Amino acid sequence: MRCLKDYKNNKGKILAKKKKKKAKLKLNLGSGSTRLDGYINVDKFGNPDLVLDLEKTPWPWKKNSVKEIVLNHVLEHLGSSTDIFLNIMKELYRVCCNQAIINIKVPHHKNDAFFGDPTHVRAITPAVLELFSKKNNIESRDKGWANTTLALFLDVDFEIIDYKINLLPTWAAKYESKEISFDELNFAITHYYNVVSEISFKLKVIKEK
Ligand SMILES: C[S@@+](CC[C@H](N)C(=O)[O-])C[C@H]1O[C@@H](n2cnc3c(N)ncnc32)[C@H](O)[C@@H]1O
Repeated sequence: MRCLKDYKNNKGKILAKKKKKKAKLKLNLGSGSTRLDGYINVDKFGNPDLVLDLEKTPWPWKKNSVKEIVLNHVLEHLGSSTDIFLNIMKELYRVCCNQAIINIKVPHHKNDAFFGDPTHVRAITPAVLELFSKKNNIESRDKGWANTTLALFLDVDFEIIDYKINLLPTWAAKYESKEISFDELNFAITHYYNVVSEISFKLKVIKEK
């Protein structure tokens, strides 16, 4: 994965390729006891590769230096103040190169496990992460919706390229045994607590069109 810009003259002609710097780093942020090989394991506590409080910005990595980030059950712990949360999203964007991938897993916001930990400070939902997409912001603005256009305000751009949910075993069994239909399952997911345990998102960082 490369993050580069070419040198151009004042007529836009490319004069020389800027030395291409490969974004090499892979970060496992909030690693806890789950160390990942090939990643810089980072946590505020314990014995990671790097002890760092992710709520304190700027982070120590250079702009465009990171090609992959893992945040496994971490983002819901960060930024009880909105400003700090937005600074974290800006740092994720700054350190990542174009097309970098961010894998996020969080407890589902309508699950007892989400409320069972006092260090969970915010729900991370598809709607929250969509606000950090410029495409999404432009669409909602053009439709006259009142969504906060965070990607445009902060000049960041993350696209959700994959999204998965894990059902609790009782609901998975109901669906697999055809006791409930797909529509009934979707109704339950939207309206009831303790249907989904975990959500996973894969975000792509967009810096060049
Ligand atoms: C639920 S644990 C997940 C650990 C690991 N990712 C895993 O999947 O096993 C959350 C981790 O985030 C770390 N964490 C919470 N706030 C942090 C902060 N401000 N800076 C760095 N790490 C933080 C905690 O220390 C903890 O290790």
